Amino acid sequence: MKTAVCPGSFDPITVGHLDLVERAAAIFDEVILCVMVNGEKRPMFSLEERLELARAAAAHLPNVRAEACDGLLADFAREKGALALVKGVRGGTDFDWETQMAQINRDLCPQLDTVLLPARPEHNHISSTMVREMLRYHQALDRYIPAGAMSALQRIRQGKV
Ligand code: PNS
Repeated sequence: MKTAVCPGSFDPITVGHLDLVERAAAIFDEVILCVMVNGEKRPMFSLEERLELARAAAAHLPNVRAEACDGLLADFAREKGALALVKGVRGGTDFDWETQMAQINRDLCPQLDTVLLPARPEHNHISSTMVREMLRYHQALDRYIPAGAMSALQRIRQGKV
C-alpha cells in the first residue's frame, strides 16, 4: 500500500488544494489529507473546523481520508507509514519554500520524500488567504471553495465574519 500525506493548514481548504489531493489520489493507493498547525499563522478557523471542511471537500474520494494533527509532520507521516508528502507549487516562491521544507522533513525522517505538483494555471491565484479576505467582505466563494464543503462553510461562518 503506497500512502501519501497531503499536509497543510487548509484555512480553509480551496479548490486548488482539492485538485492537488485528487491528483495525489490518482497516483497513490491511499492519501491522508492532514490538517495541521502552521506555527507562523493565526488561523481564522479552528483545527476541528478546518478538518470538517477538508472532510466534506474530499468525501467523494474513496482512497482519501482527512485527519488533524497538531504535532510534527514528519512524525505523523512516519506513524502512518507514508512514502511521500505531496505539496502543490504555484510558482517560484512556493517552490523555494517547499524545497526547504522537503529537506527539513527528510532530515527528520530520511525515508520520507516530498513530491511537488505544479498547480493548474487556473488555480494559480487562489489561496486560503484570498478566500479569507473574500469571506470578510461577504463575497461569493463558489469558484474558490470545493462544492462539497460549501454547506459546512456556510454553517461554520455564521458568527465569524
Ligand atoms: O498550508 P501551509 O500553512 O503552507 O502548511 C504548512 C504546514 C502546516 C504543512 C507546516 O507548517 C507544517 O508542517 N507544520 C507542522 C509542524 C512541522 O512539522 N513543521 C516543519 C518542521 S519544523
